[in-house]
Amino acid sequence: MKNPFMYSNFVTGPSFCNRIKEQKELLEFIGASQNVLLYSHRRTGKSSLIKQVFKNIKEQKLDIGMLYIDLYGTTSEKEFITRVFQQLNTLESNTDKLLNLLKKSVNKLSFQIGFDPVTNSPTIAPSFVAADENMILKNLMELLEKFSEKRKLVIAFDEFQEVAKYSNADSFEKQLRSYIQQHSNICYVFCGSQQHLLTAMFKSQTRAFYQQAASFPLGEIETEHYIPWMEKLFKDGNFSIEEDKLKQIVDQLKNHPMYIQLFCFFLWKELQQTPWTDGTIDKIEHAMIEQKRLEYQTLWDNLSINQKKTLKLVLLNDGQNLFSAEALMAVSIKTASIVTRCLKSLSEKEILVKNGKFIIQDIFFKKWLALSV
Ligand SMILES: Nc1ncnc2c1ncn2[C@@H]1O[C@H](COP(=O)(O)OP(=O)(O)O)[C@@H](O)[C@H]1O
Ligand SMILES: [Mg+2]
Repeated sequence: MKNPFMYSNFVTGPSFCNRIKEQKELLEFIGASQNVLLYSHRRTGKSSLIKQVFKNIKEQKLDIGMLYIDLYGTTSEKEFITRVFQQLNTLESNTDKLLNLLKKSVNKLSFQIGFDPVTNSPTIAPSFVAADENMILKNLMELLEKFSEKRKLVIAFDEFQEVAKYSNADSFEKQLRSYIQQHSNICYVFCGSQQHLLTAMFKSQTRAFYQQAASFPLGEIETEHYIPWMEKLFKDGNFSIEEDKLKQIVDQLKNHPMYIQLFCFFLWKELQQTPWTDGTIDKIEHAMIEQKRLEYQTLWDNLSINQKKTLKLVLLNDGQNLFSAEALMAVSIKTASIVTRCLKSLSEKEILVKNGKFIIQDIFFKKWLALSV
């Protein structure tokens, strides 16, 4: 039987645990064409939640058109526009019809037809030779509005914080907002993780997206939901694990969906070869750190010397009282201002998160640090 646990991509269906309340809430926002800002730290299940809700919409045959646009890695307005065009075939799967529609709606633009090997369907990308990007954005947004005249749409912009890094972010955000505001039959889901960027985009009065979306912070999945889900998937493979052991795993991994999924993936593999013993949990944990070793070494190597010292400071002091003279001396940092600066940059890199105290986000990175430096 195939390992039911998956950790490298978004998950839906049986591999997706609970989030029933969140699915319902997101669907309500979509039904009401109310824009949403879905945010949390990385790898806590935002993309999976969106995909799961899209899956529900499809399975329940609701008359809602869905567009999922992953903006990760885009660096300009041009690439933003291209990504949207590339997904339009999910709203109109007939390529001829779509091309006709595009020819009618988008001025002075030619299109290249490509092929998406993943979905096995044709994709359409604009070729931007000598075309005016502002005009194309306008045409594109009007086209989306046209699609929404026939039926409700939900358009998810995943990794939306990337937009804030474009060189013309200010004017692009303003333009985008001016179109989005007119789309009364479309729910825009703005999704992202780099919270300092996203918060600035939506919560600061000087920015175009200020108060443009309902806040939807994605919290953790509760232990009482993890246990039956894990129990069932293991049972499907004829493995039975005591409830208190499952609880121990969830606790140790601080209810984090990706780590729990990763842990269960390795546990499943292990149990196929060896029965459960008292040492199993430790063994899997070591295997996980081992698997991540290279990634962690690279991460560490790319930090400045003061960032490294600051991480040690956080580790040694459990993220609290980081500015005392003794604490600084213990890691050979000369001034408190260095700590302030490094805490900020490590938070921006999402290595640290602040939740009362400073926490090293990746539990296994923390374990690796404790063992290695
Ligand atoms: N509801 C869920 N149930 C089980 N595992 C989940 C769930 N949501 C996320 N995960 C796990 O976390 C990983 C990261 O999820 P993802 O949706 O990509 O997070 P994000 O978009 O917030 O970065 C997934 O690969 C999966 O292993
Ligand atoms: Mg994601």
